[in-house]
Amino acid sequence: MSVRDELIAAARAVRTHAYAPYSRFAVGAAVRDEQGRIHAGCNVENAAYPQGWCAETSALAAMVAAGGRRVLAMAVCAVSEVPVTPCGGCRQKLREFAADDCPVWIADEQALRAEHTLGELLPHSFGPQHLRGPA
Ligand code: THU
Repeated sequence: MSVRDELIAAARAVRTHAYAPYSRFAVGAAVRDEQGRIHAGCNVENAAYPQGWCAETSALAAMVAAGGRRVLAMAVCAVSEVPVTPCGGCRQKLREFAADDCPVWIADEQALRAEHTLGELLPHSFGPQHLRGPA
């Protein structure tokens, strides 16, 4: 199985664990780290609605907790008429750990629906290098 298909399969599998009783919109995400490991996460909603968080955030947190520090690729799985790309907040969270050329594969239960790079999704982004100041 290709790296892409493996990541999509992980996002599909973890989506089945989504806790989304309010929106009923289940999302799964998976990231591949610099060691080639895959980390997956789903959305986790809350009765206090704004306290819920996205699948992409869960996957990134799982990677960091396992000691991963770079994201080489991400896959997102959801079921919708239009491909479900990461929300703005998750794009920024991904930006912390990924380069502009990081692929973001968008899938549903059946197929790959769209393919972007992080740089396309979040152009001219703010990142850790901005905090370094002038050379
Ligand atoms: N959601 C994600 O987990 N990832 C996305 O890319 C879009 C939205 C979640 C948040 C919320 O639990 C539900 O989908 C509806 O917005």
